[in-house]
Amino acid sequence: MKQQVHIALNVNNEPVEVSFAPYKTLLEVLREDLNLCGTKHGCELGECGACAVLLDDLPVLSCLVLAVECAGRHVTTIEGLATDARLHPLQEAFADLGAAQCGYCTPGFLVTAKALLDEHSHPTRDQIREALAGNLCRCTGYQQIFEAVEAAIQSGAQRAEVEPDTRSARQEEA
Ligand code: FES
Ligand code: FES
Repeated sequence: MKQQVHIALNVNNEPVEVSFAPYKTLLEVLREDLNLCGTKHGCELGECGACAVLLDDLPVLSCLVLAVECAGRHVTTIEGLATDARLHPLQEAFADLGAAQCGYCTPGFLVTAKALLDEHSHPTRDQIREALAGNLCRCTGYQQIFEAVEAAIQSGAQRAEVEPDTRSARQEEA
């Protein structure tokens, strides 16, 4: 019988328990064991950013994180960005401004941009560029992506009411 580990964690604000082979990455467990396939499988080398998720609100490359290290922690994937059946304003801006074309890179960009806007309410273009530097896109040339993040800032995306409450509740738990 194959060895399995069993952990409890929080994924997209829901408590989850999952069993998996101990060598699996967070990316593999999300996609193969939790059926959350929005997080994309790219290079598996930490070079493309397609697999980015938030771990305790900070962006990580899930292809480089062992899932067993995530016991008791909070993971946010692209599936967790929409709230109350409404897209996150970043998602709306990406769709409206052509920042998502083939879409393969888009989940990684969106979760990374969300983390930036949660920390900085009005980042400069240079700060946006720096925060997204680890995410590669073959389609857009990046301009539309930067413009979409700025549009989301303008529309008040970064201060969606539910987000700060969730974050502060987590900080109190810590
Ligand atoms: S798949 Fe993780 S960085 Fe490319
Ligand atoms: S939209 Fe195709 S790789 Fe970015």
